[in-house]
Amino acid sequence: MTASDKTKSANKNTITIINNKNNQRHELDILSGTVGPDVIDVRKLYHDLNLFTYDPGYTSTASCDSAITYIDGEKGILMHRGYLIEELASESDFMDVSYMLLFGELPNARQQKRFNTEIKMQSLVDEQLMRFYNGFRRDAHPMAIMVGVVGALSAFYHDSLDISDPKQRHLATIRLIAKMPTIAAMAYKYAIGQPFVYPDNSLSYTGNFLKMMFSVPAEDYIPNPVLERAIDCLFVLHADHEQNASTSTVRLAGSSQANPFACIAAGIASLWGPAHGGANEAVLNMLKVIGDKERIPEFIAKAKDRNDPFRLMGFGHRVYKNYDPRAKVLKESAHAVLKELGVEDQPLFELALELERIALEDEYFIKKKLFPNVDFYSGIILQAMGFPSSMFTVMFAIPRTAGWLSQWHEMLGESVQKIGRPRQRYTGKDHRKFVPKDKRV
Ligand code: ACO
Repeated sequence: MTASDKTKSANKNTITIINNKNNQRHELDILSGTVGPDVIDVRKLYHDLNLFTYDPGYTSTASCDSAITYIDGEKGILMHRGYLIEELASESDFMDVSYMLLFGELPNARQQKRFNTEIKMQSLVDEQLMRFYNGFRRDAHPMAIMVGVVGALSAFYHDSLDISDPKQRHLATIRLIAKMPTIAAMAYKYAIGQPFVYPDNSLSYTGNFLKMMFSVPAEDYIPNPVLERAIDCLFVLHADHEQNASTSTVRLAGSSQANPFACIAAGIASLWGPAHGGANEAVLNMLKVIGDKERIPEFIAKAKDRNDPFRLMGFGHRVYKNYDPRAKVLKESAHAVLKELGVEDQPLFELALELERIALEDEYFIKKKLFPNVDFYSGIILQAMGFPSSMFTVMFAIPRTAGWLSQWHEMLGESVQKIGRPRQRYTGKDHRKFVPKDKRV
């Protein structure tokens, strides 16, 4: 044992558990991170005590070590690589944040240029992949197309499937970040029967995305810089968010050594649900159903009624028990976008502001610490800019790809690779005799 090991063991923090069934005592190590709650190391629990921990929904379970994103939900703090999200949103851009999530540091000018060029060089998709779209109905939800087409990238880019090769992993990463806007815009164009628009590498990542979404070959298109910046800010705010459902899905899929395209497709599928990334679409639908400020109390009452499944969409968060810092930035951004478009008095925005005001004064929401989350205002911004609500979750998936990939790389960089394999508390029948067909009642 070295001197440093001895000091470590003297300072070791532990917790003792006592099994009242057999009076067995067992000491478990407590491990500390840089900031945030300590964790109890239960890795040997089953081996030593034949016990599992039980935590459906992982409300108290840390599933991995991570140095990418930190959230203090009580204080409403979100940091990537130590930088506050508010600063990143105002001072940085999505390309810089993607680089930082992936490589740990903000890029210098040379790294920035190289990364931007790498991304631009991969923005096209294989021409044959475009034919894939014809297999979908025109009324397919764009998230359904995203799951299918992103998964299908593994059928096209065979030279970036070997996850044991760092060069191939890097190439797949660049390809995914670069092609997501192209694939997303194509899903939209397909739905409205317009021709696909090829990427324009003279534009920024978000400027190019806006052009692929809203231009037609018959007309010139110059992205509005205010809207371009607003989308970039939205992308920064959505780039990563620790071990949420879709990120954990990507990690779990990746733990079986699945290829990166398949892992990201799995993440997109998980993000689609209305309790996760699908909430921004649900917020707008909810605001349309409420329709008028006078009906807000009726819907607040519904949200509070335990027997009514209705929930105030865009409110509440598993981790934030305070105002989601991303929602604060987006509320400001909504003002800027609506002003630029000359629709500051947009009724849905006014309805949202009033709904927020009433909910935040309501005892139920105060007691349960339910605040607006990132999805509450994003739909208002996107709708004002002309995005159909079916594209809202896609707009979340594009930037989150950078976070998913960063987490995937971090996992593959760990010294010990373990397939993710939770256990269970079995509540079914114990062993019983097989019943032959003619004896079944
Ligand atoms: N409206 C009304 N009541 C709510 C809401 C809401 N939006 N959110 C939570 N509650 C209540 C629950 O009914 C529950 O009440 P109870 O203690 O009486 O049973 C309590 O608050 C705790 O809620 P849980 O669902 O247990 O909290 P959990 O952490 O599991 O859920 C979630 C978080 C899924 C985000 C939830 O708040 C919700 O459904 N919100 C609406 C959907 C939404 O906006 N999702 C986007 C999340 S952000 C993102 O994924 C990017």
